[in-house]
Amino acid sequence: MPRPLAVICLAAGLGKRTKVSLPKVLLPLCGRSLAANALQSVAPLQPSRVLLVVHHQKEKVEAAVRAEVDGVFNDLRFVDQGDPRGTGHAVSVAMAALGDFDGDVLVTYGDCPLITTATLEQLRELKGDLPCSLLTGYPDDPAGYGRILRDDDGEFAGIREDRDCSDEERAIDEINAGIYCFDAAALRSALEQLDTDNDQGELYLTDAAMWLAQSQRVATLEVEDGSEIQGVNTLADLAVARIVMQERILEHHLHNGVLITDPGTTWIDHDVEIGADTTILPCTVIGKGCRIGSHCEVGPFSHLRAGTVLEDGAEIGNFVEAKKTRVGAGTKAKHLTYLGDTVIGKKANIGAGTITANYDGVHKHQTTIGDGAFVGSGSVLVAPSTLGNGAMTGAGAIVVRGSEIPENEVWVGIPARRLKVRGEGS
Ligand code: UD1
Ligand code: MG
Repeated sequence: MPRPLAVICLAAGLGKRTKVSLPKVLLPLCGRSLAANALQSVAPLQPSRVLLVVHHQKEKVEAAVRAEVDGVFNDLRFVDQGDPRGTGHAVSVAMAALGDFDGDVLVTYGDCPLITTATLEQLRELKGDLPCSLLTGYPDDPAGYGRILRDDDGEFAGIREDRDCSDEERAIDEINAGIYCFDAAALRSALEQLDTDNDQGELYLTDAAMWLAQSQRVATLEVEDGSEIQGVNTLADLAVARIVMQERILEHHLHNGVLITDPGTTWIDHDVEIGADTTILPCTVIGKGCRIGSHCEVGPFSHLRAGTVLEDGAEIGNFVEAKKTRVGAGTKAKHLTYLGDTVIGKKANIGAGTITANYDGVHKHQTTIGDGAFVGSGSVLVAPSTLGNGAMTGAGAIVVRGSEIPENEVWVGIPARRLKVRGEGS
C-alpha cells in the first residue's frame, strides 16, 4: 500500500503586485484559474486530502475553485489562515485541519500553475522514507528567491531568504522552488520549532526543512525545466505562463494528430477534445470544454466558445463565432457568422453573414436547424426558431421569433414567409 497523500496548496497571500481586483489565484490561465491549474497537477497523484489555504476574498476563491474542480477530489477543503503570517504559519494552520493524518504531505503554491504531475511524482518518490524532499532550480535571475545552503559534502543544509542573505549567500545560484514533500509527523515536529527571527518577522516554512536537515537527510530534486517553478506575481508573469501552458496544450493535440498550422496564433484552452485529422487554421481561439470531432476544419479567425461541439467533418471558417452550439457532421459555416445556443443537424449549409439572434435582452433562446438545411446569406434567425430538415431561407431573410419552418420549405423576405417547397419552380 502506498503511503496516503495529503496536499496543502498555499493561496492566502495578498497578490498586491497584479494590481487587479480579482484575487491573484483566480487569474485565468488557458481557461482555468491559477489555483485550479495548480490543483489539477496534483490530481493524478490521487491525494486522499487536499487543503487550499486561503484568506483574502476567501468566499470568492472557494466558490470559484470548487466550481472548477468539481468532482476531481474526494476531500477538498478550504482553510482560512486568518492574518497571513508566513508560509510556515499557513502550513501550520493546514496541518491543524489535517488532524492526525499520517503519510506524505505535498506543499504546493496556488500561484505556481506550471508545475507538472511528473515532477511532483518524482519529488514524492525521492522522499521515500526521508522526512522531507524539496524542489530546487537555477533560474537566470535568482534574486528574490530563497537560496539553498549546502554543507561541505554538498548535502542540503538549509534555505536562506534573499532578504536575509549575506553577500556571499546571495551569490548562490541554486534556489528553493517552494515545493516540498514532507512526512506528516516530521513536519509537525518541525513546525513547532519555527520562530519569527527573520527580516519579515514571519514564520518561514523553509526553516522547517532546515531544522529537519540538522538531524536527518533532506533530499533535493533539481527541476529540469525551469519554467515549471515560475510563480505568477504580476500580469507580465501571467502572460509568460500562458505561453508556456499554451505550448503544452498544443503539443498534446499535435501529438494526437491534430494539424495545427500556426501554433503561434492558435489559442486552445484546457479541457478541449479534438479528433485526429482535424485542421486548425491560424488565429483561432477555442475555449474550455469544446468538443471537436475528426476531419473538421476550424479557422482561420474562428472563435469557438464554451459548450460548442463540432461533429466529424464540420467546417467553421473565418470570422465565425459559436457559443453553446452543436454543429452536425459535415455541416459548414464558413464566413462571418454568429451561432449562439444553436443545434444544427448534418450536412447543413450556413450562408455567409448568418446570425442567430439568441438574446432578447433578458433570456437566451435556442435555434434549431435540421439536417441538410440551407440558410441563405445574411439571414437572421431570431430565437426561438426552428428550420426543419432540408428547409431553406433566402438571402437576407429575417426569420422572426417563434417561426417553425417545415421540412423542405423555402422562406424568404422580411419577415420571412413561405415561398414554396424546395425544388418546386418559382
Ligand atoms: C517563498 C519561499 C522562498 C522560495 C519562494 C519560491 C518562504 C519563507 N520562502 O518565498 O524560499 O524561494 O517561495 O517562490 O517560504 N502564502 C500563504 N500565507 C502566507 C504567506 C504566503 O498562503 O502567510 C502563500 C502565497 O500566497 C504564495 C506562497 O505561499 O502562494 C509563497 O508565498 P510568497 O510570499 O510568495 O513567498 P516568497 O517570499 O516568494
Ligand atoms: Mg513568491
